Amino acid sequence: MIDGRVFVTREIAPDALARLREEFAEVDVWEAFEPPTPEQLAERAAGCVAVVTMITDRVDAALLNAAPTVRVVANMAVGYNNVDVATCSGRDVLVSNTPNVLEETTADLAFALMLAVARHVVASDADTRAGNWGLWHPALWLGRDVWGASLGIVGMGGIGSAVARRARGFDMRIRYTANSRRTEAEAALGAEFVPDLRELLAASDFVSLHVPLTASTHNLIGAAELAAMRPTAFLINTSRGDVVDTEALLAALRAGRIAGAGLDVTAPEPIPADHPLLSLPNVVVTPHIGSASFATRRRMAMMAVENAIAACKGEPMPSRVVG
Ligand code: DGY
Repeated sequence: MIDGRVFVTREIAPDALARLREEFAEVDVWEAFEPPTPEQLAERAAGCVAVVTMITDRVDAALLNAAPTVRVVANMAVGYNNVDVATCSGRDVLVSNTPNVLEETTADLAFALMLAVARHVVASDADTRAGNWGLWHPALWLGRDVWGASLGIVGMGGIGSAVARRARGFDMRIRYTANSRRTEAEAALGAEFVPDLRELLAASDFVSLHVPLTASTHNLIGAAELAAMRPTAFLINTSRGDVVDTEALLAALRAGRIAGAGLDVTAPEPIPADHPLLSLPNVVVTPHIGSASFATRRRMAMMAVENAIAACKGEPMPSRVVG
């Protein structure tokens, strides 16, 4: 039994919580649907040895000052831009994430967005519900083919590769850019490496973003990059909202410089209901649900929990980011 308390910042899968209760002397779970504020997080983490966090929780010096007994931050996400990793590392606080369990599920959603925005799935459904399905007409809701189109993948990690695997089934021409070549992906998926981002953008009917949010990917897609895209092309973002300059995207969509966007992540996030992006018919927005399947969220919860347990027992963590 780990002699200490773990704070879990949201209700997670029951069996993951049960596993924590087997191992920790005390398990405290945030009870509300809304995330704790930074002050509430600090208050509840104080005195804990471990915290299981979500992407909405900021882990920084202020939190660690308020909770100096915390030895591990187990983030329930593959991305960990909500965690100040350098500060954690400087204080010997271990940090973990949940890779290799959510890639396929997130790739499913990237594809869903691609299909939805190219074929007007959401807008035509809304129109039908509004009673506007008059007669069938050969020119009604014409969209763009996904099959046979060219796909530009920005970031060929686990999720990018999972998107590429799906794209093969749609007979898409797959190109990608990444920090380094992925020769296995090239051989297995027929993906072509294009080192220059703008060249990739110019050659793609669909651009799908799969990079982590870091200082170098912040606003990676700005006005110049959007201008490099084809006017018939779609931008799909299931990575992080801040990878795209929202104002530049809005301007490009309004001016018809690109055909549309499918966004599971936005900046700001959550996006306010009166945000101008939401008034555009060629944009589909989902509320950061890339990994949100029952099975995958359970796997993520179990992994986060096993990371917290291992760290507190002094054992190797299944997926350590730092420490
Ligand atoms: C992640 O894992 O980083 C997702 O964005 C949250 O599921």
